[in-house]
Amino acid sequence: MFTIITGAQFGDEGKGKIVDLLAKDYDIVARFQGGNNAGHTVKVGDKVYKLHLIPSGILLDARVLIGPGVVLDPEVLTEEITMLKKHGIEVDAKKLGIDAKTSIIMPYHIEMDGLREASREKKIGTTKRGIGYAYIDKVARDEFRVAELVDRERFLTKLEELAPQKEKEIAALGGDPKIVRDPALIEKYLELGRQFATYVTDVSREINEALDKGKYVMAEAAQGTHLDVIHGTQKFVTSSSTIAGSACANLGVGPTRVDNVIAIVKAYITRVGEGPLPTELTGELGERIQKAGGEFGTTTGRGRRCGWFDLPLLKKAIALNGYTEISLTKLDVLTGLDPVRICTGYTFKGESLEYPPELTEDLAECTPVYEDLPGWETDLTEVKAFEELPENARNYVERLEELMKIPINYISVGPGRAQTFKKE
Ligand code: GDP
Ligand code: IMO
Ligand code: MG
Repeated sequence: MFTIITGAQFGDEGKGKIVDLLAKDYDIVARFQGGNNAGHTVKVGDKVYKLHLIPSGILLDARVLIGPGVVLDPEVLTEEITMLKKHGIEVDAKKLGIDAKTSIIMPYHIEMDGLREASREKKIGTTKRGIGYAYIDKVARDEFRVAELVDRERFLTKLEELAPQKEKEIAALGGDPKIVRDPALIEKYLELGRQFATYVTDVSREINEALDKGKYVMAEAAQGTHLDVIHGTQKFVTSSSTIAGSACANLGVGPTRVDNVIAIVKAYITRVGEGPLPTELTGELGERIQKAGGEFGTTTGRGRRCGWFDLPLLKKAIALNGYTEISLTKLDVLTGLDPVRICTGYTFKGESLEYPPELTEDLAECTPVYEDLPGWETDLTEVKAFEELPENARNYVERLEELMKIPINYISVGPGRAQTFKKE
C-alpha cells in the first residue's frame, strides 16, 4: 500500500496531526521534499511535538525516512533528535533512515537566503532557513550530499573546490565571505556528519522492497499545493515541488504503485509570507480566526493570514494532486461565526471564474464570490462522531464535500489525536 499525503492549500493544514493519526497502520513514513521551513505539529496527551524534518510518524512504530529530495540542516535534525530523546523517544538507526543523496543546507545557504530576502524589493517572506539556496545548488550540481557530510575527506575536498565560487556569491549579495570556510562551522558540520553516518540508507530501494513485500508506506509532504515551485503562485512559493506526483519523483517510486492520495484541507484558508490570498480577512474577523485557530507559524512564529474557504484554489489542488480522499481539519475554529462563507468563484476583469487564473498577478486581482451558510455556536472540540455535530456544521461539511466532489474521510475538531472522527 502506497499512500501520499499532501497539503491542499498554502501549508499548515494539519498534515502533522493527520499523518500521526494514520501512521499506526503504516510500516514506513517518508518525507519527500522541503526542509526545516516545514513545521508539523503533533499533539499527544499534554505533549506537543514540533517536527521540522523528521516525519510525523515518529511517535508510532513506523520506520521513518528522509528522502533524497529533502534539503537537510544538520543542526536542526540534531536538535530534533535531542528533543525527541528528552521525551523518551529513541531515534536509532532502526527507527530513522536518511538517504545518502539528501542535500545538506550549508551555513552559507542560510546567509544567502537572508541577504537576498533583505535586498528584494518585492519580498517573498521566506522562512530564511536557506531552503531556496540549497535547492539552487542541487540543481546546479554543487550540493553537499549526506554521503559527503559523513566522510571527512570527501567533504573537505568538495569544500575546497566550491569555496571560491560560494565566497564570490556571498560577497555579491553584500555578505561576509568568511562564513564559507569558517573553521568552527566546518568542524561542527563534520561532527554532526559523524553522528549521522549510522542513519544513511537508500530510501528508494527500501520503499520499493517494502512495497514488494506488501508493506504499508506513507509519503508525507511539506508545505502546500499552492506553494509548489512549478504550479504554485510564483514567485511566492517554496523551492520544491509539493504536489503528489513529486512524492514519486523524489522518493524514487513509480506512479503505478500509488494506491491513494489524501488531501489535508483546512476548513478555512491560511497563508504565511507574501502572495495573493483572494479570501483574506484583514480586519477583526481575520484576527478572530487567527486567534481561535492558533494561526502562528510553527517554524517562524509569524502570524498566518486567514481567510474563508477558497473553492477555486481547492479545485486546482484536486487537479494537481489527483486526490482520492480528504481529511478536513480545524472545523472547530469556525464555531461562533455567522454566516460561514465559502468562496465558490471569483470575478476577474468583469468575468466569472470557477477555477483560478494561471498567473499569480491575475489571481491577485480576483474578487471572491461567496455562498453564505448559517453558522453554529456549539463548541465542537469534544464531538466524537459526524452525527453529533450541530446541523449547521454538518451542512457546511456536506456542502464542501458536494462542491469538491471528493469524499471526506476524517474530520478534525482539535489538535489532539482523539479530536478526530471518521465521516462514514
Ligand atoms: P502542518 O504544517 O500541516 O503539519 O500544520 P501545523 O502543525 O503547522 O499547523 C496546524 C496547527 O493546527 C497545529 O498547531 C496543530 O496542532 C493544530 N491543529 C491541527 N488540527 C486541528 C484541529 O482540527 N483543530 C484545531 N483547533 N487545531 C488543529
Ligand atoms: P508546512 O510544511 C506554510 C512559505 C514561506 C514563504 C514561502 C517560501 O509547515 O506546511 P521558503 O523558506 O520555503 O523559501 O519560503 O513558503 N512556507 C510555508 N508556509 N507552511 C510551511 O510548511 C511553509 N514552508 C514554507 O512562509 O511564504
Ligand atoms: Mg506547518
